[in-house]
Amino acid sequence: MSNRMWGGRFATGPDAIMEEINASIGFDQRLYKQDIAGSIAHATMLAQVGILTQADRDAIVTGLKAVEQEIESNAFTFSRSLEDIHMNVESRLKELIGDPAGRLHTARSRNDQVATDFKLYVRDAIDTFLAQIQALQLALVKRAEEEVSTIMPGFTHLQNAQPVTLGHHLLAYVEMLGRDYGRFEDARRRLNESPLGSAALAGTPYPIDRDATAAALGFDRPTANSLDAVSDRDFILETLSAATLCAMHLSRFAEELVIWSSAQFGFVKLSDKFTTGSSIMPQKRNPDAAELIRAKVGRIMGALTSLMMVMKGLPLAYSKDMQEDKEVAFDAMSSLSLSLAAMTGMVEDLVPNRERMRASANAGFSTATDVADWLVRQLNIPFREAHHITGQIVALAEQKGMSLEGLTIEDFKFIDHRIDSRIHKVLSVEASAAARKSYGGTAPENVAVQVARWRTALTGVASEPVKVKRSGGHGDGGATE
Ligand code: ARG
Repeated sequence: MSNRMWGGRFATGPDAIMEEINASIGFDQRLYKQDIAGSIAHATMLAQVGILTQADRDAIVTGLKAVEQEIESNAFTFSRSLEDIHMNVESRLKELIGDPAGRLHTARSRNDQVATDFKLYVRDAIDTFLAQIQALQLALVKRAEEEVSTIMPGFTHLQNAQPVTLGHHLLAYVEMLGRDYGRFEDARRRLNESPLGSAALAGTPYPIDRDATAAALGFDRPTANSLDAVSDRDFILETLSAATLCAMHLSRFAEELVIWSSAQFGFVKLSDKFTTGSSIMPQKRNPDAAELIRAKVGRIMGALTSLMMVMKGLPLAYSKDMQEDKEVAFDAMSSLSLSLAAMTGMVEDLVPNRERMRASANAGFSTATDVADWLVRQLNIPFREAHHITGQIVALAEQKGMSLEGLTIEDFKFIDHRIDSRIHKVLSVEASAAARKSYGGTAPENVAVQVARWRTALTGVASEPVKVKRSGGHGDGGATE
């Protein structure tokens, strides 16, 4: 039997293999809500401009709502021979209401229909990401507030570099996520034009009102070029690139959590809720959620690459290739959403080990730069020379098997007689972090200001910086010249 939705000129139905390669209903049924909303807007507009009678419009709308109800209660039977969500819905509408259903497809095509449906879907997904990103940012900001003065090693090349505060480190991700948020917002703004009424590719001779359908579906305006409208998939590509960047950021943080939670580092403990045990090694707590987040970026970027390859070289306007946009995009969007949710949960439950971080920050002569800076600022020694002298001081400490803080004033004078006891004030990791008060630097009082800024931005409630303790309990915190 030929397809009753388009089979007029066909004598037989498609080969089974053809049906299998052609059908999208297996995955595009996810678009049922958007498809029905689009059809309701379209039918309502057709009645407004006099193409449909009000009675037909009402029958169509009632019927579409019944179809939606059936799908939501799992009473709907999707049929592969009806190819996709658009024809499955319309065919069921015909069964339910009879003749008026046949008038719904006036002045539109599946080409503008699918572009509209998917835009609505992606727009909803973006709105979810925006809310999820803010939730993760807020979770990070709360943790950062608790850790404004927590000292940890700052790394370059994953080697101890200079002490930083954990609050500062966490806020670095808040900044990245802020840019991700901006990219999604931007993509949303650009996608929000309605393709509906572009019809197959050239527009339609019917006197339709595209502004009305655009407004009914929450679009800012109708698209201005029908060829572009039915063949544009930029909105998905843009969303997938924003998703790739966001997932890459999550992946970096996930990698840090994997490292930090290892026995060798021991900086944090991940909660039972986000770790798993081993079936053979009873002592294990594996950071599986972090590892999976670390990996997800591959699928998300894979979706971007895949769709980019689908689109490149496609002539205008619609080609069936474009049906390949959905599976990868659905997968990428749910992967990102799941990753954001899991990361938020991990951040909320994370237990930092402050002593361990401090001890690690203190290792590896991490305040050597502070010694050099002291020589420059107190003794007016050129930085290059100060760097050299400091190198000799580090070598002496290494030889004596102690930290810079452990050296006596005689030790310092042995290297350079101009050094006096004031040098001891800059040797602690607390002093080092507290001294970095330049805008954007790691000093606890800076971090407190940034925490307050983000809190205000994220909650809409003005928030004041928390008071920072002047001394960190170890060494001579905050006392810098
Ligand atoms: N299932 C199709 C897709 O996702 C809908 C559009 C089909 N249009 C067509 N002319 N065959 O792209």
